[in-house]
Amino acid sequence: EIKYLPGKEPHPAEHRLIFKNIDREGWDTSIETYMADGGYDQLKKAVEMEPSAITDEVKKSGLRGRGGAGFPTGVKWGFIPPNNTKPVYLICNCDESEPGTFKDRYIVHQDPHQLIEGMVISAFAVGAHTAFIYMREEFPAAAIIMEKAIEEARAKGFVGKNILGTGFDLEIWVHRGAAAYICGEETGLIESLEGKRPYPRIKPPYFPAALGLYMAPTIVNNVESLCHVKHILEMGGDEYAKLGVERNTGTRILCVSGDVKKPGYYEVQVGKITMGELLNDICGGPKDGRKFKAVIPGGSSSKILRCDETFKLGRGDDAKEISFWDIQMDFDTLAACGSMAGSGGVIVLDDSRKMSWVLNNINHFYAHESCGQCTPCREGNGWMKKISDRLVTGKANPEDIKTLEEVAYQIDGKTVCAFGEASSWPVEAIIAKFRDELLEDTSEDNHYLSKEQLQREL
Ligand code: NAI
Repeated sequence: EIKYLPGKEPHPAEHRLIFKNIDREGWDTSIETYMADGGYDQLKKAVEMEPSAITDEVKKSGLRGRGGAGFPTGVKWGFIPPNNTKPVYLICNCDESEPGTFKDRYIVHQDPHQLIEGMVISAFAVGAHTAFIYMREEFPAAAIIMEKAIEEARAKGFVGKNILGTGFDLEIWVHRGAAAYICGEETGLIESLEGKRPYPRIKPPYFPAALGLYMAPTIVNNVESLCHVKHILEMGGDEYAKLGVERNTGTRILCVSGDVKKPGYYEVQVGKITMGELLNDICGGPKDGRKFKAVIPGGSSSKILRCDETFKLGRGDDAKEISFWDIQMDFDTLAACGSMAGSGGVIVLDDSRKMSWVLNNINHFYAHESCGQCTPCREGNGWMKKISDRLVTGKANPEDIKTLEEVAYQIDGKTVCAFGEASSWPVEAIIAKFRDELLEDTSEDNHYLSKEQLQREL
């Protein structure tokens, strides 16, 4: 039986696969500890299989990318052109930067070999002989831990030349980022790896699986997604698919932050718990004397949900109305509620929070992180920040809310990468759902231009 450090025990509603070893008593990052627990057994099994059979298991498992977009991992692997003659690259995206998300960092800090095992199996499946771990700069210790773990794995014959005597070679490189959110966007990441400014590339028509690093087929997967591959092999794709709900299989780690009694990380079966169970049972409910007001369910880029909202799901005879509390925590349900499951960062806000401050906080983040390639995003995010600065300092006019909304819609859908939506959706949703509250922070007496400037303009 696994024991966890005092106060770090998983909640009974959790189902731990990926986080099995996180905060585990007697656990460390050495390869001996990992192997004593069955570590690298799945790699030994994988190298005896046909690479395509591994991809088939991943397809059967229904695994959807845990970085945020929820794209089926096995399908993505299948997009490598069949007649390809170029090298194939595997990239582990460990640039976890989405505000509210803090799961990958625990894996790379506490269980590096789980990631390496998942990566070597995945590289074998897709035919990659070079793999990169793109590590966000803010995880300096993790980069050192991962490099040490790779050397340990090499010494045991799990990484490097002729892995386990099969003739399969794989080098894994840890590449440190330089603290830019845009480097988590896969094509920005690829540009950065190539040594360039991380301006995202236009996709479609070409996705990295066909044309990625050095214009060769490249599979970019999130840390958590790559770790799942090991468990899929262990359980078999069909058995894995029994976890979770239809089309939303397996487990995923929800990172809960903000105004709850017990914030933290919880690995649960996808879609098996509702918002109400997550917030009230698992996270212990609101802080004393407070009420839940709103939740940003999938990292700061996702649209906010009000706790008093209802949602219509399905169509025709199958349509049903559900409350906020009944939302199943999975990709499809959250999308049907007008938001997204994203990277699993659940940010909880109680009635002590002013929405103008929430908006301003989000605007500051995106204005700072815009890479500047696309004008609507570069200029628009700066404008949105300036307007919401006026809002929180009591200098905004009611017209400013309209302008803010217009700017958001001018960014949405008009940029090369999803940063445009990531920065405009929160604004659109907060204004749509909390317009009256925002208007309370404005005054007709406020003018952007001073009286003297106005007179000059006239
Ligand atoms: P996307 O939907 O464009 O792509 C998802 C993945 O599927 C990519 O790897 C893409 O290459 C692949 N893909 C999609 N269609 C394909 C096709 N037809 N052929 C081949 N491959 C295809 O989404 P994107 O822009 O990669 O990610 C957006 C998400 O990232 C957001 O929803 C957000 O939740 C998340 N995100 C996560 C962060 C984090 O720190 N974990 C930070 C910021 C955003």
